[in-house]
Amino acid sequence: MSSRIPGFYKLSVEERLKKVAEFAGLSDEEVKAVLSQGLPLDVADRMIENVIGTFELPLGIATNFLIDGKDYLIPMAIEEPSVVAAASNAARMARESGGFKTDYTGSLMIGQIQVTKLSNPQAARFEVLSHKEEIIEKANECDPMLVKLGGGCRDVEARVIDTIMGKMLIVHLIVDVLDAMGANAVNTMCESVAPFIERITGGKVYLRIISNLAKYRLARAKAVFDKDVIGGEEVVEGIMLAYAFAAADPFRCATHNKGIMNGISALMIATGNDFRAIEAGAHSYASIGGYKPLTTYEVDKKGNLVGTIEVPMAVGVIGGATKVNPLAKISLKILGVDTAEELARVAAALGLAQNFAALRALATEGIQRGHMELHARNLAIMAGAVGDEVDKVVEIMVRDRKIRLDYAKEILEKMRG
Ligand code: MEV
Repeated sequence: MSSRIPGFYKLSVEERLKKVAEFAGLSDEEVKAVLSQGLPLDVADRMIENVIGTFELPLGIATNFLIDGKDYLIPMAIEEPSVVAAASNAARMARESGGFKTDYTGSLMIGQIQVTKLSNPQAARFEVLSHKEEIIEKANECDPMLVKLGGGCRDVEARVIDTIMGKMLIVHLIVDVLDAMGANAVNTMCESVAPFIERITGGKVYLRIISNLAKYRLARAKAVFDKDVIGGEEVVEGIMLAYAFAAADPFRCATHNKGIMNGISALMIATGNDFRAIEAGAHSYASIGGYKPLTTYEVDKKGNLVGTIEVPMAVGVIGGATKVNPLAKISLKILGVDTAEELARVAAALGLAQNFAALRALATEGIQRGHMELHARNLAIMAGAVGDEVDKVVEIMVRDRKIRLDYAKEILEKMRG
């Protein structure tokens, strides 16, 4: 089935859900779970401490995504208006030139072991590297299941760093965590090899913890935006100028990257992933060598815009809340993904779409119109408009730049004679 569903936004909540259920093959029970707001209190009570209730967000669906030749409806949990519409709109434009192509470097996470109180840190580094195989073996002993499935600790790195508390040896375990986000597996490995590392270095280990700068777990996406589809040469130039601005100015770059994360984090929340880890990874990766945009833009020979994104993507489809929160499970089913790799690829495409949409809006009419339209829609409905009346009332309010409830009522009264 195609994810291109014209007029999806005009349907009622129930009608939209019906379309999504058809697309994803949701059962009646799953449909009911989405409508009944998902997370049961007893499950919530087991997820964190001191629970007093649950907290909800709107769950929207971004349409039109064609990624590596496959159609996706992307669930997004977010409080901000226009984000879902913007992603869908960008995906519709990318579709015209074949959609998004993606790439993934594999599910390799980094665990850090901090070795202190070393009289000869370089000699300690030598000892760690020359005991690499033993360290890997010990790390893998604590997760036989991961190893059986084809994952596990793959490599060991060691660096001496200078700190205000003197020199330290930082050991990295490089672990293939397969379909998990990986924090549990990696932290357990770091803790279990720490005594051995103390023994061979003569130092004292303090921290043993995953790094969220997941630079070996990158997702990439690319899309061509046809200049005629996106509004012509001037729009292409506007987007190039917006990109140049972000690449040259950290104040702008923060907002540029924030817009990317609007999409990625909304998908992470919908699928029960640790969105703080993803945010930390994205911004720290963007800071390597000076804070830079996570996306790039170029103009090809035909004058079309070519966008790419490269971003760490420590996502999981097993463990954590992904399998505990019923809505997260349903989101994964709507997406139709069952590997971390595929989720990471989709997330990268979504981030690129979100960024392209923001830059296009900013370089042309600005983003307020979109926000205002949604606000106007709400007011039209509050004023009592139904069916086609809603669009007409919205159109007049936006045209007259008078987005107020009393004006919506006035237009509606006039329309109904
Ligand atoms: C708003 O949440 C996101 C934008 O500010 C992103 C951007 O400026 O690129 C629109």
